Amino acid sequence: MSARSPLRAGVVGLGWAGQQHIAGYHDLADVELVALAGMEEHLLAELGDRYDVPGRFTTLEAMLGEADLDVLSIATPTALHAPMAIAALGAGVHVLCEKPMAPTAADAERMAEAATAAERVLEITFNKRNRAPVRTLRRLVADGVLGRVYYAKAGWVRRKGIPGLGTWFTQKESAGGGPMMDIGIHALDLALHVLGEPGVRTVSASTYAEFGPRGLGGGSYGAGARTAGDSPVYEVEDLGAAMLRLNDDATLMLEASWAQFVDHDRLYLEVYGTEGGAVIEVEGPDAPKIFVTTDVDGIPANLTPDMLADAGHEANVADFVTQVRSGASTERGQVGLLRTHVIDACYASAEQGGEVLL
Ligand SMILES: NC(=O)c1ccc[n+]([C@@H]2O[C@H](COP(=O)([O-])OP(=O)(O)OC[C@H]3O[C@@H](n4cnc5c(N)ncnc54)[C@H](O)[C@@H]3O)[C@@H](O)[C@H]2O)c1
Repeated sequence: MSARSPLRAGVVGLGWAGQQHIAGYHDLADVELVALAGMEEHLLAELGDRYDVPGRFTTLEAMLGEADLDVLSIATPTALHAPMAIAALGAGVHVLCEKPMAPTAADAERMAEAATAAERVLEITFNKRNRAPVRTLRRLVADGVLGRVYYAKAGWVRRKGIPGLGTWFTQKESAGGGPMMDIGIHALDLALHVLGEPGVRTVSASTYAEFGPRGLGGGSYGAGARTAGDSPVYEVEDLGAAMLRLNDDATLMLEASWAQFVDHDRLYLEVYGTEGGAVIEVEGPDAPKIFVTTDVDGIPANLTPDMLADAGHEANVADFVTQVRSGASTERGQVGLLRTHVIDACYASAEQGGEVLL
């Protein structure tokens, strides 16, 4: 199947995430951004004018019916990812969907099945893996510089960072979960990506909701999602911690919080191997940072390597378009699906109070 040139692209969801996709498509020479969809009339007008997008819709159905799309980015509240992706894939459109893939692994499975049946690309946006320290560490691990990695820690912790307190972000049905689902999934992705996709065997997790139910811990994140009618509903955790046994016998400790008495917000990954260890900070006061500890000729050495180039959402959008254009991509949402299964297992483990086998 040869792709049209230029590819006709649409974006549904006009919040912070959708705006990153819009900018990403706008930057690409062989893509025409032909349609936007969202429920805010002012954003449709403002973004439509700024990026010169002719098609402006308030529903995905209207956009799919009229815009003749080749590719679609989905950046709506998480519970809408599955129905929207399945509708678009069924209409023959390739889909780049925001993380988390879906509120439950069952929804994510249905998305992957729809992509397979339609033979269309389904990719999930894990944008943090494009950041300079992550790219650099991934190369060091892949090239064996740290030896065999057997222990890792990953997390994203925030002092006061509950997004849109009381909006869809803090409701179980629309968001699927709290920080484990929202930002823990980024930390999980960084770890599995850097470690070379070892697969996950077991999960043992705990969750807590200590700030959100008291109306505390809100920050500036997700402010765009708030509307005047929002009630301060808080149904998800505000901290989750997990121990994961990986298929290569390595152990990964994972933590995610929206609100916690930490001294600063931080997205980090630490990996420890037989020949060296490394710490990266992707978000936080010291970010971007990479620090490698090893022995050089038997002498302890602490190294700060130069980093590979930094990138964000635009790299995900460009990579997705390249896959669609190649006509050979077999990505049907499997990467996102594994991460969703792990987060599902974290919640199941926390509820059962025991270890869960994947
Ligand atoms: N990768 C990242 O770094 C990153 C960052 C932020 C958010 N996200 C993800 O992106 C998604 C959106 O997050 P956000 O912060 O931009 O949310 P948001 O609430 O700010 O924006 C949501 C958008 O979806 C639109 N929408 C809602 N229901 C709709 C419907 N039925 N039809 C058409 N449009 C509809 C809204 O009008 C709005 O424009 C979430 O899944 C979130 O987890 C990812």
